[in-house]
Amino acid sequence: MIYGEKEKMIVYLKTINGIKVQCTDTENKLLQLNNDISIHKILDRNLEEMKHVILNNQLLYPKLFYTEYFHILKNDHKDLFKEHGLRHDITIMSGNLAGIEFMKTYGHYHDLLNSKRNTAPEVIEILYGQALILLQKPKMVSSKYALGQSLESMCDFSHIEEFTYFKLNKGDVFVIPPGYGHILINQKPGALIFSSLISSRAKSLYKSIFDFRGGAYYIIKKNAKQVFVQNPNYKNVPKVKKQRKWAYSNLVDKKDPIYLSFVNDPKRYHWLNDPDSINWENFA
Ligand SMILES: [Fe+2]
Repeated sequence: MIYGEKEKMIVYLKTINGIKVQCTDTENKLLQLNNDISIHKILDRNLEEMKHVILNNQLLYPKLFYTEYFHILKNDHKDLFKEHGLRHDITIMSGNLAGIEFMKTYGHYHDLLNSKRNTAPEVIEILYGQALILLQKPKMVSSKYALGQSLESMCDFSHIEEFTYFKLNKGDVFVIPPGYGHILINQKPGALIFSSLISSRAKSLYKSIFDFRGGAYYIIKKNAKQVFVQNPNYKNVPKVKKQRKWAYSNLVDKKDPIYLSFVNDPKRYHWLNDPDSINWENFA
């Protein structure tokens, strides 16, 4: 065990995630990994990179926004994840503000999965803290699907047709359906920790978010409230729509953490690799 001056702030992910990891809520680091846990890659998202997508690109702090732990799983489950073609990631994001803007992820879209008409869906679970998830849907300019085509050649990313958001609390599990770009926001002073379950073949697309300097809206703190500030780099941005219910939640198990839920019933998540098997329109 690693304890120290930050003892009180230690967050145990073990009981809610099914794998034995822990961290503090003041640093983006997993403090201890048991020998039976493996991680494929660790990526720090720092200010130099985030400067391209935040409102104030002159900021000097914070230096580090968040850290992603890709493909984190118990060694015992390696074969299971491989067999079902899925990846489990954990992201730890610092709290507080980046200037007047809330801390956030870079944001991305997912590309079409090989041989599928839909882009890769994703399941997000909040392990610690509270998040806003922002979703934006770009205009499709080509409905013709061709094998091997990228979403980037099918959309006008400057034209957003739908922009919506949801508030997620600890324990909430959220399905990001195909076609939506997404950004997670941390509005709290403490850390936000979330995990994600997604096809191991999913490819994230960052270019349009980079080109337009962020998502369609920036979320700032003004007079102790959240305010949506439209990003002027987009040609067309609709009003912000707040949806209270998100019908896709029927696709996931609500009683167990997603990691455990997948391990206990992997076939339940077949749609993450076969999004064409779901009639997404019926859910909307
Ligand atoms: Fe994603």
